[in-house]
Amino acid sequence: MSQTKSLHERRAKSRLGGGAERIEAQHARGKLTARERIDLLLDKGSFREIDPFVVHRTHDFGLEKQKYTGDSVVTGWGTIDGRLVYVYSQDFTVFGGSLGEVHAEKIVKIMKMAMKNGAPMIGLNDSGGARIQEGVVSLAGYSDIFLQNTLASGVIPQISAIMGPCAGGAVYSPALTDLIFMTRGSSYMFVTGPEVVKTVTHEEVSFEDLGGASVHSEKSGVCHVAADSEADTLYLIRKVLGYLPQNNMEDPPYVNTGDDPLRADAALDSIVPADAGKPYDIKDVIRLVMDNGEFFEIHENYGMNVVVGFARLGGHSAGIVANQPAVLAGVLDIDASEKAARFIRFCDSFNVPIITFEDVPGFMPGVTQEHGGIIRSGAKLLYAYCEATVPKLTVITRKAYGGAYCVMSSKHIRGDVNLAWPNAEIAVMGPEGAVNIVFRKELEKAEDPAARKAELVQEYREKFANPFVAAERGYIDDVIEPRETRARLINALEMLQNKRDANPAKKHGNIPL
Ligand code: HXC
Repeated sequence: MSQTKSLHERRAKSRLGGGAERIEAQHARGKLTARERIDLLLDKGSFREIDPFVVHRTHDFGLEKQKYTGDSVVTGWGTIDGRLVYVYSQDFTVFGGSLGEVHAEKIVKIMKMAMKNGAPMIGLNDSGGARIQEGVVSLAGYSDIFLQNTLASGVIPQISAIMGPCAGGAVYSPALTDLIFMTRGSSYMFVTGPEVVKTVTHEEVSFEDLGGASVHSEKSGVCHVAADSEADTLYLIRKVLGYLPQNNMEDPPYVNTGDDPLRADAALDSIVPADAGKPYDIKDVIRLVMDNGEFFEIHENYGMNVVVGFARLGGHSAGIVANQPAVLAGVLDIDASEKAARFIRFCDSFNVPIITFEDVPGFMPGVTQEHGGIIRSGAKLLYAYCEATVPKLTVITRKAYGGAYCVMSSKHIRGDVNLAWPNAEIAVMGPEGAVNIVFRKELEKAEDPAARKAELVQEYREKFANPFVAAERGYIDDVIEPRETRARLINALEMLQNKRDANPAKKHGNIPL
């Protein structure tokens, strides 16, 4: 046989993974193969595979008779919208995508290349976990990957897609990455599966209810984006990368979106209800202000009292953090604080400016929140904002009460440009609460407590619940008409293009985890 023929045969064998039958079985499960996924993820024809001839070295449990060229993961690089990315894609048709020694070696190799060359790393996960026949060697392989994930954190964007099983310790590689995408209906993640759960806690639960995409995108918050199909999952990964730089030494790409930077939308002027107790949807504000109304939301269905995601302003990539008055009045609770804190740190790691829309009545009261550690969670959010050195712009659309005023990118914690709408209420607390505390004795003695209270509330509102007390002190840089928001934010972003700010030299801070 000629050497070229042998090469072609080996390549063909490698491409076939676990063989035609198992590929069929994969399709019958409603799933694509590792290679089909890569084809959908990357620009057409850009994938360059490496290590297609790697085979395992195990001799136990009859494995020496089952060798698959390339083993159970496909690795290489390619482009997304012309920009370099590295990728691994686990091949469920080979030993159920299970991870043994050489599978781990292939992943570690491609991760090191991604780090050295400063481009995003994307992992497509579909695996039965540690290859049982390889024992502790598999665990060593996982550990090697965890180390690389940690070293790469904050250096290159790391994105994980879960497109099948991801169980046991295997979950910790995606969990160490920046974003986890899950495909609804065919993916699940858990540390211990339903069988173990039944034995230990006597709870009966299905795979889907224990660790499906809905659970992780709504309850645990482990999943950042849940998509309806594999194609959607991969499309959304392509899209989110457009907001991110290749690595921490670069700025995010500028894109000419064609939207007029001076566009003033009159709808903004009436979006906030006159009654401070009435809700509105902050996403309407975000869409009216951002380029072409586009907003890539992260954690859409988790901790919904805060909204986070990416958008473009005048073509510049921006990370949006916004209190959501339409959910729990936009109060900050444990989940919302942690969600926002993590997003802020992600943006700061990768030089994405942070734009905060603030309408927050404070931190969530209650025994559950206090016992659950709202103090620690709120501190995480505070820490993340304080530590961030990217451009930070804040718009107070209505309430900025109490500790939440300090936390939400206030001037005092290095907000670069802090703006308020004319109806903003910046105060220690809402008028009702303040009057109840300060004038409690007077109200007890009053002839008509209700009338006196209404008078005092009105007085407090006029004196304190407006943006001008803060503006007089320079805590607010300017009070603007809502319709001016877009133009003012774009102007501020461009003014801050060369911002340089740094934290004191240290090994690393001690964020209250
Ligand atoms: C070796 C495995 C495997 C594994 C699956 N296979 N998981 N081989 N090691 N971990 C093989 C199966 O034997 C089968 O081979 C093929 O992959 C497809 O598996 P099926 O069971 O037929 O598929 P399905 O019915 O879809 O079920 C998928 C599954 C199930 C739910 C993932 O295979 C399963 O429960 N696997 C074991 C999961 C597990 O306990 N892993 C260890 C977790 S502990 P054939 O030849 O029949 O096609 C762990 C520790 C990591 O991962 C620690 C890191 C710190």
